[in-house]
Amino acid sequence: MHVVIHLDADCVAAAAARLVGDALRATPDLAIALPTGRTAIPFYRALVRRHQAGRADFARATTFNLDELAGVGAGDAGSYAEFMREHLFDHVNLKPSRRHLFDGRARQPGHELMRIETEIARAGGLDLAVLGIGGNGHIAFNEPGRALVARSHVARLDASSRRANAHLFGRRLARVPKRALTMGVATILSARRVVLVATGAGKARVVRRALTGPVTTALPASLLQTHPDVVILLDRAAASGLPGASGPGLTITRRE
Ligand code: GLP
Repeated sequence: MHVVIHLDADCVAAAAARLVGDALRATPDLAIALPTGRTAIPFYRALVRRHQAGRADFARATTFNLDELAGVGAGDAGSYAEFMREHLFDHVNLKPSRRHLFDGRARQPGHELMRIETEIARAGGLDLAVLGIGGNGHIAFNEPGRALVARSHVARLDASSRRANAHLFGRRLARVPKRALTMGVATILSARRVVLVATGAGKARVVRRALTGPVTTALPASLLQTHPDVVILLDRAAASGLPGASGPGLTITRRE
């Protein structure tokens, strides 16, 4: 894993956007998995800026969102579909037919999960997956547990994950869905390259455990240690729990 430590959240966002812009240049028909969450907001802002500067062309790209809350979908307040429209889709030249999200309102979730897995396969697999990390160590909505589900599935959300999403529902916890449709860890780890973005002191402990602790289903992000091409973009605060020097499997570069 290659950890790059930047000064602050804006520098991390710019670095993540540069990485995606460069990937789009190298592979114009890039198939990319995308996150939601607060960390992703400055990333999309930087990516839109990059697009406007002519350095991130989505004309031939295909996107897949990592997850969607159950019971909500395109047009619904609080849905990740709306988040993506607001923060990315309305601002870049990505064809609507190439934007893939789980439909949280699907009547037959099993078919919906299969539909996305099939679309990923049709796109030739994921070239790149950009991830955030939950305070509890989740990636997408693969929550900590005694076991993980490999492929896309309906997940039961941790109380902490529901609290973290309450801002999407007017801070009313009772309105936050209890389940979500999510890519599984095998779907995510099948991406040729994985980029994890984390910022803020609140993520320092989980980042340290994910990168330097044991690989365990109790901390799904720790499975990234098994992937051959992972880039972790951190600000100083999120990196504050990491060792000062590189070690086996962990290369640390400081760009502060
Ligand atoms: C969200 C999403 C994850 C995201 C994570 C971190 O709820 N399901 O895909 O990476 O939690 O969110 P944040 O950036 O707001 O801390």
